[in-house]
Amino acid sequence: MAQTIVAPSILAADFSRLADEVVAVEKAGADWIHCDIMDGHFVDNISFGPAVVQTIRRQTGLPLDVHLMIQHPDHYIPRFAEAGANSITVHVEAEAQHDVPKTLQQIRAAGCGVGLTLNPATSFEAVEPFLGEIDLLLIMTVHPGFGGQPFRSDMMEKVKQAAQWRREHNEKLTIEVDGGINAETAAISIQHGANALVAGTSIFHTGDYAAAIRALRGR
Ligand code: DX5
Ligand code: ZN
Repeated sequence: MAQTIVAPSILAADFSRLADEVVAVEKAGADWIHCDIMDGHFVDNISFGPAVVQTIRRQTGLPLDVHLMIQHPDHYIPRFAEAGANSITVHVEAEAQHDVPKTLQQIRAAGCGVGLTLNPATSFEAVEPFLGEIDLLLIMTVHPGFGGQPFRSDMMEKVKQAAQWRREHNEKLTIEVDGGINAETAAISIQHGANALVAGTSIFHTGDYAAAIRALRGR
């Protein structure tokens, strides 16, 4: 398997120095930049929109991994693609109020990598019908809405199921985990088959981004 992908979640960065923070994590060895979009409806928090994604786009050539925790994501796909998203991930839950297969096609047609994600309370069976249409499966290891929450090890069963599906159908599928990822929980996630790690607190709330990213890779 290729090197584990590390995607710092910009939600934990110091927003008063956003441009510097993006440049700093790129220099520190990040592979992607994870952008958490929250609308105060699908999740109980509000973060940022396409204009901030565009600002991040101007600071780095790294892929932007955009995680949409919003209702009606289909309505906003063109704006995030325009803002510079390289991959767009939408939620499978009914609360997101969109036609999942149509939205996945729309992301593909916009020229972006296609991601699908499920909350801790959602079973793996809910995403199984769509696995052949996506490039990235994001398994939430916390209930979405906030950084700094504890990792849910009971989500590793889904990572195992996804890894088995990948072995049997599509070795290119990226399995990403998000929420409470640090050096210890990263190792557990990789052991079960994850190959992309989103991390906010365990990178941005440390004094040494390079050491934090190395630690996530188990170095
Ligand atoms: C939560 C977000 C995560 C979060 C990760 O809803 O999707 O990306 O920012 O933050 P940490 O790593 O602090 O749990
Ligand atoms: Zn996220």
